[in-house]
Amino acid sequence: MQSFPAVDPIPLPAPVWLLKLLHIVTLALHFVAVEMLLGGLLLAVLLSLYRGSPASLVAARALARRLTVVMTFVINLAVPPLLFSQVLYGRALYTSSVLIGLYWIAIIGLLMLTYWLLYRFTGRLEAGKSAWWVGLSAWLLAGCIARLLSTNMTLMLRPEVWRKMYSASAMGAYLPTGDPTLTPRWLMMMAGGLFIGGLWLIYLSGRSTFTAKEKLFVADLGGKVAAIFGVLYLAAGLWAAIAQPEIVKAGLAGQSIYPLYRFAGFAGHVWLALVVCTVLVSAAAGFGKLANIQFSLSSWEAVLLAVLIEITFTVYRDGVRDLTLLSKGYDVWDRVVVTNWWVVGLFLVLFVLGLGVIGWLVSVAARARKVMEGAA
Ligand code: HEM
Repeated sequence: MQSFPAVDPIPLPAPVWLLKLLHIVTLALHFVAVEMLLGGLLLAVLLSLYRGSPASLVAARALARRLTVVMTFVINLAVPPLLFSQVLYGRALYTSSVLIGLYWIAIIGLLMLTYWLLYRFTGRLEAGKSAWWVGLSAWLLAGCIARLLSTNMTLMLRPEVWRKMYSASAMGAYLPTGDPTLTPRWLMMMAGGLFIGGLWLIYLSGRSTFTAKEKLFVADLGGKVAAIFGVLYLAAGLWAAIAQPEIVKAGLAGQSIYPLYRFAGFAGHVWLALVVCTVLVSAAAGFGKLANIQFSLSSWEAVLLAVLIEITFTVYRDGVRDLTLLSKGYDVWDRVVVTNWWVVGLFLVLFVLGLGVIGWLVSVAARARKVMEGAA
């Protein structure tokens, strides 16, 4: 029996390839922000507890101050991919969202609580008060949000369990079980947070608002964190890839009715190579002194690696989703498209203008009067 609801009779307003391209670009940016939040927050909590070096509290404050801003990017960069995925995968995504409805809607409350706790964490740190428990609570809540998102994004790929779940309860109060890809996917995002958090520290170490001593501390720590958690990120990623069904793996090797998914498989290999290289260079930067190696990563190298890793991951993940759905009778390319090029053109102009405004905002922030991170 067909589990997917009927296709909406209204045609798509833009070609599928364009919607997918915009989806992947905006989702990769959402992932960069999410990883900065998940990793940066835990690092700030741990640094606020560490008393081994005065620079650790300075680094904790530097991260915490930026986390409330990072959260705005997490949210704003989440809305576009949510809209694009609803347009492309609505019949699967709406169904799974309804099935876990109570939890899905709870994300709004959890998000507001996390945001409030973030402000409390930063405020308490700035005031010199104990703040770790506030930050840790915010991190646990953010981890719960990530778990719920992973749950929905994997449940949307399993039409075979929908009817049973709905029969068990139409309240949306049950979470699905038995998906072998859920935990590795979630762990990948959590470990990836600390990996990207390490790269973030390396980026920060290039800022002129740190003293020379603080810069050394932050760069050294960033290298160590990125190297150690990069290995965990890699392990979780490989676990998630191995846990995929054979038909998906074959599709990623180009054996499906759409050989273009070979490109997603290729992106997976590029992701692997990038993560391995990043772990090695981070290890050289963080642990190099132990073997008398002088090596450092520049701020922009760290940013570039983080962005490329998230883009290749998102392309691969997109291939996994399409091929899984295809194996269950849902073909994302099989839609009636009636493109209104005027509207698409206007959208693209506004999109580019929006990016320009963000660029201008960043440049204004970069030119603002610098205050040393360690200043009270
Ligand atoms: C603390 C806040 C957030 C965290 C930690 C977070 C984390 C995540 C994670 C871990 C995933 C990947 C799930 C997976 O595929 O396994 C994800 C995807 C996603 N998130 Fe977020 N997220 C946050 C906020 C939001 C918000 C506020 C929205 C909506 C406005 C949102 C929309 C999405 C969407 C739509 C996807 C998947 C898109 C797709 O696959 O097409 N997220 N997020």
